[in-house]
Amino acid sequence: MAEQKTFYITTAIYYANSNLHIGHSYEIVLADVMARYKKLRGYDVKFLTGMDEHGQKVERAAAAEDIAPQQYVDAIADATKELFCDVLGIDYDIFIRTTDEKHKNTVKKIFKTLYDKGDIYKSDYEGLYCIPYETFYTEHNLKVGKCPECDRGVEPVKESSYFFRLSKYQDRLIEHIENNPDFIQPKSRQNEMLNNFLRPGLEDLCVSRTTFKWGVPVEFDPEHVIYVWVDALTNYITALDYLGEDDVLYQKYWPADVQLVGKDIVRFHTIIWPALLMALGEPLPKQVAGHGFLNIDGKKMGKSIGNVVDPRVLVGRYGADAIRYFLMREVVFGQDGNFTNEALIGRINADLANDLGNLLSRTVGMVEKYFGGQLPAAQAPTDFDESLINTGLTAVQNAEGYFDKMQFSYALNEIWDFVRRANKYIDEVMPWQLFKEGGKEDVLAGSLYMLAESLRIIAAVIGPVMPNTPAAIYSQLNIAGDELKTWESAKKFGLLARDARVSKGDIVFPRIDIKKELEELAGI
Ligand code: MSP
Repeated sequence: MAEQKTFYITTAIYYANSNLHIGHSYEIVLADVMARYKKLRGYDVKFLTGMDEHGQKVERAAAAEDIAPQQYVDAIADATKELFCDVLGIDYDIFIRTTDEKHKNTVKKIFKTLYDKGDIYKSDYEGLYCIPYETFYTEHNLKVGKCPECDRGVEPVKESSYFFRLSKYQDRLIEHIENNPDFIQPKSRQNEMLNNFLRPGLEDLCVSRTTFKWGVPVEFDPEHVIYVWVDALTNYITALDYLGEDDVLYQKYWPADVQLVGKDIVRFHTIIWPALLMALGEPLPKQVAGHGFLNIDGKKMGKSIGNVVDPRVLVGRYGADAIRYFLMREVVFGQDGNFTNEALIGRINADLANDLGNLLSRTVGMVEKYFGGQLPAAQAPTDFDESLINTGLTAVQNAEGYFDKMQFSYALNEIWDFVRRANKYIDEVMPWQLFKEGGKEDVLAGSLYMLAESLRIIAAVIGPVMPNTPAAIYSQLNIAGDELKTWESAKKFGLLARDARVSKGDIVFPRIDIKKELEELAGI
């Protein structure tokens, strides 16, 4: 038997400083859709996410609440897991926390290895540090005296520190990026890294602090705490037991196939991270994919500007599948997207309630009405069948190409072309007319069969994005067993038994009264 291909996908690990908003949900859903898609395509998938729990920011936040940092991050980690699993339907394989003993031990070993190799050395550091963004700057990096990334004040620091010889890897990094055009996606971010950071020249990186305690200590010099970004970036391999006694996971899954991160942290993942790996003598991830940001009403989302949208509230009102659909449909991969309540409800009403929901309820309703819930085996094709089949098969083929490239918005676009085509088919065939005319039961049954088949195919291909909806469709079409639910089965028409039986179920996506809903949301 051919060996199953592996697929290792990671997200950034989330800061343990607040509850996560709908912008953070975008990234984790994106990764979940890809992981589910690859599983459906037969890959042996490992999907890693987790929490970034060290640093001065966390230490200060815990102190402000008068609790120990560990207690502070424990509560946030529990809430995050609950948000991912129970609210957003994320099916991750590993949830790593940087306070895990295993992780901390490996980070210490990595630091020591690099020190022994001479890639980390001790020297004096004098500079400026942005606590919220956990980054060092020189005067000329600042934007009008403030952190160029988050626009907050920086603090001067002077201390004896350890440094990583980042500058040594500059040429190798440039060469790697130039020789591997897929390493940084999308292409625009690749140019940004080369032109703005790598070609102007890299300085060695300060990788330890002595002014706070909440982090992984340098084992051979415990006054020093390892820089949070070095601690955090290594999670992608410590999670696979890198340098552990048993490193089968590392051997099997590393290098990662896709490391998904937001555009704000592409720099850390395409410069510092690969340089660390080069220094360790380990292979680089195959791809770092930098997605865009989800904005709200056109503005950057953030706690400080008070416009954070809570995914729990949205999922509570509309269900996880609707929110996941919206995020994947509305944001083109690599570009920024915009969240508004109007756009969300608009999509739910148009695409989910009207297009998909109606297709299901009309189809099942007509089989019940005209055939008492069971189609007869004898059926005749209609003139419109060929066009429906062509649209369906083309949609699945195109969607597959887009899924492979994580272009889920385009994939959904293709699938919805098919959903709308199937609805149009009903208007063309006019089953109610055939029924009224009488004597054409075989044509009527044939057309309803085509619709049931279309729904079966649609259910199979929307599964990665909407993990709960296929079950509702399968149950109304009485599809049990797995053969008719596979990705491959979506590439063929005519697999459903001709004498299919249906059972009417709940409306999958009820229509929302937009005016009333917007008023209620405004009051939350
Ligand atoms: N802890 C670091 C990452 C360390 S990875 C070794 C971090 N955490 S974060 O919680 O601030 O962000 C986690 C991820 O969410 C990042 O990839 C970030 O780009 C992404 N997003 C944060 N806000 C976002 C939006 N508004 N929209 C889309 N993604 C967003 O950075």
